[in-house]
Amino acid sequence: MISSFTFLYLVSFVFWVTGHVVPSLWDRPEECLSEGTWPCRWSPHVFPNTVDCSCAKTEAEISKNFSRVPSPSTELLKFFLRGNALVKEIPDGVFRDVSFEHIIVNNTALRKIHPNALLPSKDRLVELTIQYSLLEDFPFQFLPKLSRLRFLHLQTNSLTSVPAIKSASLEVLSLSFNHISRIEESGWETPNLKFLLLSLTPNASVCLNRNKISKLDEAVFRPMLEALSHGDGSINVHGERERFQV
Ligand SMILES: *[C@@H]1O[C@H](CO)[C@@H](O)[C@H](O)[C@H]1NC(C)=O
Ligand SMILES: *[C@@H]1O[C@H](CO)[C@@H](O)[C@H](O)[C@H]1NC(C)=O
Ligand SMILES: *[C@@H]1O[C@H](CO)[C@@H](O)[C@H](O)[C@H]1NC(C)=O
Repeated sequence: MISSFTFLYLVSFVFWVTGHVVPSLWDRPEECLSEGTWPCRWSPHVFPNTVDCSCAKTEAEISKNFSRVPSPSTELLKFFLRGNALVKEIPDGVFRDVSFEHIIVNNTALRKIHPNALLPSKDRLVELTIQYSLLEDFPFQFLPKLSRLRFLHLQTNSLTSVPAIKSASLEVLSLSFNHISRIEESGWETPNLKFLLLSLTPNASVCLNRNKISKLDEAVFRPMLEALSHGDGSINVHGERERFQV
């Protein structure tokens, strides 16, 4: 499945209370409540090259705000969407030609991100975080194009399956606290992946054959087995050459 791991961290919290409370309109950041608030706040001077669209009420509002970039450059550092229950999607072309190094979405009702929204950032994006949200799907097939992406944090969403991941740059992939029952086991090309974090459903099948995993200790293994013991799941590590510490 995943080649060239130094360490593999599989985290299983099947008893963790799933489902978090998506923020309501009243949880919106306080600064969004006053009349005439812009959907996005651009802070090219205060906090260099950051745009925070946490106050947006719709995708269209974000899109409209990006139609004229108030910053002197289109190469920004960070995009934020936080504590927002109204924006459901990051649509195609929403950022126009503005690119980011970090895209951070936290505690939102976001269900979908269009891969083309990431296109302007394809040679700059280092971190993509979408957590505590409602993501049902993620454009994993777009990862090979994100040439500098090192951190992909998708924990606490509603993902159900993971295809074979291909990324030359990816170092950390976090998929914990989703509803994942299927992980594509062949075709992974992640030569720099060091941390893989996921939680399993009881019937999950995990295939770790033919990897270079050097350490998989009890603290990691036991919760996985406990989760799987409640269903028909399995872990297959057949063919490991390395010695396990179980
Ligand atoms: C976008 O929001 C900023 C406030 O951060 C504002 O100055 C700018 O005029 C807005 N742009 C458009 C096109 O609405
Ligand atoms: C994400 O949102 C949660 C809930 O509002 C908050 O507790 C947490 O600190 C946030 N994390 C980051 C990295 O912003
Ligand atoms: C796991 O599989 C068993 C037998 O195939 C089935 O009865 C059970 O409903 C499944 N559990 C889940 C959580 O899907």
